Amino acid sequence: MALRTIRTQGDPVLTRTARPVKAVTPRIRTLIGDMLETMYDANGVGLAAPQVGILKRIAVIDVGDGPFILINPVIEETAGEQTGDEGCLSAPGMAGQVTRPNYVKVRALDMDMEEQVYEGEELLARAFCHEIDHLDGRMYTELVEGRLHEVKYEEEEEEE
Ligand code: NI
Repeated sequence: MALRTIRTQGDPVLTRTARPVKAVTPRIRTLIGDMLETMYDANGVGLAAPQVGILKRIAVIDVGDGPFILINPVIEETAGEQTGDEGCLSAPGMAGQVTRPNYVKVRALDMDMEEQVYEGEELLARAFCHEIDHLDGRMYTELVEGRLHEVKYEEEEEEE
């Protein structure tokens, strides 16, 4: 596996619609492995393939309970509402308030091209919406209420 370069806002690839995956080829497996590694390396909770320059409908998410791998994901159902700060690895150092559903049900294919249904609330629901938006060329910054603001991350403690 290898780290991929995360594209940042202004890169036209982030505004394009990604294409459905027809088969999980060795190349797609490598891409998914690289996406997970790239997301964890950047301390992100989600990453969509267009963010690494690949216009395919693939997203990875991990809000702390292990990874979800979503191929050709579709939102089937939403409920409720949550408003909170959102950020994106393609807009580093920034955050802004976005209202999203508080519950989201997603249908997606897994690595074996089997259909799966996932349900998420709160942060996971937000991540499902955010990452699926990327597959349609949408950034959360279009949805921000008020202004984007800078976020300061605490410096990581130095390791011996
Ligand atoms: Ni993002």
